[in-house]
Amino acid sequence: MEKDKLQKEIRRLAQEKEAIILAHNYQPPEIQDVADLTGDSLELSLKASRTPAKVVVFCGVRFMAETAAIVCPEKRIVFPRLEAGCEMADMITPEDVLGLKERYPQAPVVTYVNSYVEIKAVSDICCTSANSVNVVKALEAQEVIMVPDKNLARYTQRFFPDKKIYYHDGFCPFHEVLTVEDLQQARKQHPEAVLMVHPECRPEVIDQAEVVRSTSGMLKYARESSAREFIVGTEIGLLYPLKKQNPHKEFYPASSQMLCKAMKMISLEDLYKALETLEPVVEVPEDIRQRAYQAVARMLEIPRN
Ligand code: 13P
Ligand code: SF4
Repeated sequence: MEKDKLQKEIRRLAQEKEAIILAHNYQPPEIQDVADLTGDSLELSLKASRTPAKVVVFCGVRFMAETAAIVCPEKRIVFPRLEAGCEMADMITPEDVLGLKERYPQAPVVTYVNSYVEIKAVSDICCTSANSVNVVKALEAQEVIMVPDKNLARYTQRFFPDKKIYYHDGFCPFHEVLTVEDLQQARKQHPEAVLMVHPECRPEVIDQAEVVRSTSGMLKYARESSAREFIVGTEIGLLYPLKKQNPHKEFYPASSQMLCKAMKMISLEDLYKALETLEPVVEVPEDIRQRAYQAVARMLEIPRN
C-alpha cells in the first residue's frame, strides 16, 4: 500500500477500534504524522494516564509502552514491535539498584523512566529528562541515588550544591557519542546558531550548550526563541518535528551519529497490523507493576514548571 493510503487506513482503523496513537518525538516522520499525540517521555506518560481511550497504541521504545501499562492497567497497551528496546535501559539490573541501596541506605532511589519495570519496582520515584530537577528538589533527602543514566545524574547535580547524587554508570550510546570536537565543527559551520543539547549528553558537551532540555523542551524553546538557526544535540529524529513546527528556521544535527535504531523500528505497516489485530500487547506482571506504579505515580504528582 502507498504511504498516504496506509496513513488514511491507520486513521480509519484507530477510529473504528477507539484507539489513541501516541508517538515519541524521535519516531520516523510518517509515524509522527499519523499519531494523535506526540511528545517527550513525560508528556507521553501523562497523556497515557489521562486519555479516556481503552486502547493505546504506543510508538516509541519498550520502556515507554511499559510506563503506559504501569499507569493504565485497565487499558490495552498495544506496542507494534516488542523488540524495540533501549540500550541505556539494558545497562542496569535490579541487583545493581539493590547494591546501591545497601551502600547508601539513607538515599532514596530516583529512576529515570528510561528503564524497565523491574528497575522502577525497586525505586522510590521516577523522573524524566524534563523533570529530574523538580523531582530531586521535591525530595527532602540530602543524598539521592539516580539510575541508570550517569549523565542525567551529573546534570541534575549541578542544580543542588548542597545535595549529593550517587549514580549508576549507565548512559545512552547515541548521546554519549557527541563530542566537544563535533560541536566545534558545527559551530564553525553555523556560527549564528543556538546550541541545544539533551541532558543525556556528556558533561563537557553540556558545558558548551546554551540550552539543555528534554526533546519537547527543545521544541518549545525553538518555537519561542527569536533565533533563526539551531544546532541540535540529540537523536536526529527530533529534526523532523523541529522543522515541521518552525518551517522558517534552520536546524542542523550536532552529529550524524546520533541515531537510535530502536526508535526507528516501527513502520507504518507494523502500525497498521497492530491496529487491525490489537496485538502485540505489552505485558507487565501485576505484582511488579504495583510496585513500579508507586514510583511513576509519585513522579506524575510533581508539578511541572
Ligand atoms: P525525552 O524524554 O527527552 O523525550 O527523551 C527520551 C529519550 O529516550 C532520550 O534519549
Ligand atoms: Fe534509549 Fe538512547 Fe534510544 Fe533514548 S535514544 S531510547 S535513551 S537508546
